Amino acid sequence: MKLQPKNSLQGSIQIPADKSISHRSIMFGALAKGTTTVTNFLRGEDCLSTLHAFQRLGVPITDDGTTITIEGVGFSGLQPADSPIDVGNSGTTIRLMMGILAGQNFSTTLFGDDSLAKRPMNRVMLPLREMGAILTGDNGSEFPPITIRGTRELQPISYQLPVASAQVKSAILFAAMQGSGTSTIIEKEPTRNHTEEMIKQFGGTIETAADEKTITITGPQQFSGQEVIVPGDISSAAFFLVAGAITPNSQISLTNVGINPSRTGILTIMEAMKANLVVVDQDQQNQSATLAIKTSDLKATTIEGAIIPKLIDELPIIALLATQATGTTRIKDAEELKVKETNRIDATAEELQKMGADITPTADGLTIKGPTPLHGAKVDSRGDHRIGMMLAVASLIAQGDTELVRAEAINVSYPGFFADLENLVAGETS
Ligand code: S3P
Repeated sequence: MKLQPKNSLQGSIQIPADKSISHRSIMFGALAKGTTTVTNFLRGEDCLSTLHAFQRLGVPITDDGTTITIEGVGFSGLQPADSPIDVGNSGTTIRLMMGILAGQNFSTTLFGDDSLAKRPMNRVMLPLREMGAILTGDNGSEFPPITIRGTRELQPISYQLPVASAQVKSAILFAAMQGSGTSTIIEKEPTRNHTEEMIKQFGGTIETAADEKTITITGPQQFSGQEVIVPGDISSAAFFLVAGAITPNSQISLTNVGINPSRTGILTIMEAMKANLVVVDQDQQNQSATLAIKTSDLKATTIEGAIIPKLIDELPIIALLATQATGTTRIKDAEELKVKETNRIDATAEELQKMGADITPTADGLTIKGPTPLHGAKVDSRGDHRIGMMLAVASLIAQGDTELVRAEAINVSYPGFFADLENLVAGETS
């Protein structure tokens, strides 16, 4: 795909639905008794993988183009699939489903694409084995395909998470809610709490201690069908927040953005970097808001510690932002980036270096010096949606043409990305 620089972005777009909540809406809808409807479901490839996976397990799910309707079967109503289930590129699908399938009395094999086949699964397999399920990776490894032989007799667990991961936390919660007894999970740092929020929304009970790290749940739980309205994804909004801040003569607004506090690290960091960013029209009940952003005179900052899980998926686009900030930005404590859809430390540094950025990978993050003018280059998403969108945003300020290879990866989380970008373009550079 050929991309050209722009000299202004103007106007407003509606940010597509939250990926994390969309995945979970299918899972909770399937495990509940009764009908669940989901409006504003994200029809990106990852969430469609979850939808198709639950259809394969015998859950009736229909999509009339507006609303997804799930006829929930409860914990005992899932049926074995007749062959391995393909979950594509989706780490959230495979890891959360491992927790769900751990409590089922049949065997299921989950596999995905080449990227998923390299992602570590011991972080989920080890606690689920401790709870009594049998899980095996490809040829005795920790990598997909993963076969899960579940049991209706799962034991409760007390588990201290070795990594800050909402996927691992959620997998254990999905297992613990099916067995009997009280499980305790202690997080390394608080991570996104959508699973906990949806347990409550679907009529279950769960407690999070004041430290936000100690979570207790007693199984078995029972859920009833709900109406879910999915807010926009702040991780998708992030690309346009940065686009608005770095493109000259720009003023844009992004509507319907989810602002669950476990996800808003990027707002804190952009404020620290002196971005012209305003949160308007907050809707407390739906935890959503409109975000308005203007071209900004940016300052470098340090990003480390407990904020990292609150902006983990935004770090590649924050790194691009830092190339335009005065001073040295340091991203630390972000080793987890190495085991995302790509090694995002290397992918971010190497692809942005091709465009002239002063960016250096470190053992646990990135060091970025700015402001540095960028130039067009042939760059590669490496099959990673967030790297692809970051590079497309970089092209907005790069002198000359940028060629983005494997741009189609963006469909994983944001199928309308280029259409939304086109709607905001108010000026081409000559
Ligand atoms: C997610 C958790 C995060 C995040 C991913 C979605 C979730 O992964 O990076 O995009 O929906 O629970 P980790 O749990 O590996 O940090």
